Amino acid sequence: YLCPHTRYPRKQTIMSAKDHTKLSREKCERLWRTAQAVCFDVDCTVTKEDALDSLGRFLGVGDQVADLTNAAMDGNLDLDEALQKRLDIMNPTIDKLIAYAKSNPAEERLVPGIRRLITELQARNVEVFLISGGFRELILPVADALNIPRENIFANRFVYMASDKVGPNGYPEIHAKGFDANEPTSREGGKPEAIRRIRTLNPYNTIVMVGDGITDLEAVEQTGGADMFVGYGGVVERSYVKENADWWITSHDELTDAIPKLKVAMVGSGAWACAAMQMVSKNARETPLFDKRVDMWVFEEDYEGGKLTDKMNELKENPKYMPGVKYGDNVVANPDLVDTVKDADILIFCTPHQFVHKLCMQIQLNIKDNCIAISLIKGMRVRHDGPQLISTMVRRILHMECSVLMGANIATELAPGTLCEGTVASHFPEHGTIFKSLFDTSFYNVNVINDVEGAELAGTLKNVVAVAAGFVDGCELGHNAKAAVLRQGLSEMRTFAKRIFSTVRDETFNESCGMADLFATCCGGRNRMVSMAFAKCKGQKTFDQLESELLNGQKLQGVLTSNEVQAVLKMKGWEKDFPLFTAVNAIVQGMYEPKDIARYRDLAAKPVVDETFVNTTR
Ligand code: NAD
Ligand code: 13P
Ligand code: MG
Repeated sequence: YLCPHTRYPRKQTIMSAKDHTKLSREKCERLWRTAQAVCFDVDCTVTKEDALDSLGRFLGVGDQVADLTNAAMDGNLDLDEALQKRLDIMNPTIDKLIAYAKSNPAEERLVPGIRRLITELQARNVEVFLISGGFRELILPVADALNIPRENIFANRFVYMASDKVGPNGYPEIHAKGFDANEPTSREGGKPEAIRRIRTLNPYNTIVMVGDGITDLEAVEQTGGADMFVGYGGVVERSYVKENADWWITSHDELTDAIPKLKVAMVGSGAWACAAMQMVSKNARETPLFDKRVDMWVFEEDYEGGKLTDKMNELKENPKYMPGVKYGDNVVANPDLVDTVKDADILIFCTPHQFVHKLCMQIQLNIKDNCIAISLIKGMRVRHDGPQLISTMVRRILHMECSVLMGANIATELAPGTLCEGTVASHFPEHGTIFKSLFDTSFYNVNVINDVEGAELAGTLKNVVAVAAGFVDGCELGHNAKAAVLRQGLSEMRTFAKRIFSTVRDETFNESCGMADLFATCCGGRNRMVSMAFAKCKGQKTFDQLESELLNGQKLQGVLTSNEVQAVLKMKGWEKDFPLFTAVNAIVQGMYEPKDIARYRDLAAKPVVDETFVNTTR
């Protein structure tokens, strides 16, 4: 019998769905949410028309070519036979192919919604492939228009042949006479074969095939093929495909809307947390990858007769810790820690480092599966076996991967229109990409590296050097002395980091998280400011007093970190190798005066207790 829209008899060998049981809608949505690769058929799935049909029309043989295309897509004609027959009818010259491509720009060939779908998949690090029974030459402009790398295209290749006829340029005319039969897409079973090849090169767990034709449905019917088939009926509706597709759609928007958005939550609401929230809230509002709403946990306190959280939700700023800085209307301040984190796919940690351990313990049982974290915290914890980075603590207590964001970032200076940089360090490149999407803006440029330990230790240790810089400035020792302290500080930061983690790279210290942060903090940071005040008051006030007088609740990290670093140096017997760190700690502990930073080498070599300046710190 004849198929409704072709003159070719239905083949008896049409594949059955016996190897693949049609999936429930719930299972489809679950697989879609976790797909690592999505393969699209091209003709009538990504583009509005079959390229060979439109080429046939361009060449004046449209109807004959279209009949053959439909027969192949409905499963009534072998693919290779259909390809050859259509080529024989069209017999295109290279000049005609070029003229066709010029008069049919890729942009105009795309079906509605496909660009949005592919852009959002790529933003989520889902790899997109094109697997087509059409020809590579006709697909390349489409792939370029959708930012799909050319190595992700599986398609047929023309085989060209010179004819006896001489063309207008005086050379023999070159015709696309046939196709390369080695390409899997030129024959039955080509799509599952292409997917099997993708699997051999990539460790994807879940691969989805989207298409309109029977050859696309075939992708789930063979071992090693796709895990799910989405039938697309936005251009042509083929009843067999509609019946057997795991999930049938008529608009790509249905798939786009089913891509889960990443929910972001911030633990912390101090100065840097609120400043950094400007980037996070902007990107959550503007990037489809993220849920627009961002939750921020607030350590609740009374503020002007009410609660700080209420005031923050009214003003969309933190009037105590970052007054005047609007962090974004899409941010919701929440005093309940568990409630803030429980639905998050991405957790940002940004509190003073001394509070993180306790906070992690409180949310240990409330973290969503697959949640990932990033720490903006500069500091560490000392355990009996050595220092523990905050990212390691998060990883250990919460069983989730934790990246870091460090950089030359004075919170009060960050604002649209200014220039600021940061370093994201992630062990997994795909996490780095997500965090770049979350933090990078026109006013905050992010560079991604993989040296998490180097970046985090650089950010942590520079706070100790900033204390030294404050002593230099407070005692008016001059620029030469300050430069000497910064140089020695950078050297000790790098040596310490490399001794603790052999994987730490020198290059990390050239990033924003390295010498740039050291410079910014030693010029304009709070550690430098309070240490300068400490030096100026000549032992009349402790660091604790100065912290509360000068910082209005903000927390100093440098003094605590100096004590923590010194505990590690003692534990390892390394004090003499780190004379600047050791001298800073001796001054912080009241064993010497701030002006003694100028002779830091002597202090570390033979500690002398100066009796006029005894333990005025804590
Ligand atoms: P901050 O110094 O403003 O600290 C105050 C915050 O701590 C407030 O939100 C307060 O509510 C909270 N807090 C007080 N007691 C608490 C408790 N017991 N438990 C939990 N929270 C409590 O904070 P910040 O500037 O956002 O700093 C956070 C981290 O970011 C630090 O590690 C810091 O080194 C780093 N950092 C700061 C800056 C900056 O310029 N401020 C820049 C880059 C990195
Ligand atoms: P302070 O905590 O010294 O202000 O340093 C902030 C900072 O980390 C700048 O990058
Ligand atoms: Mg198709």
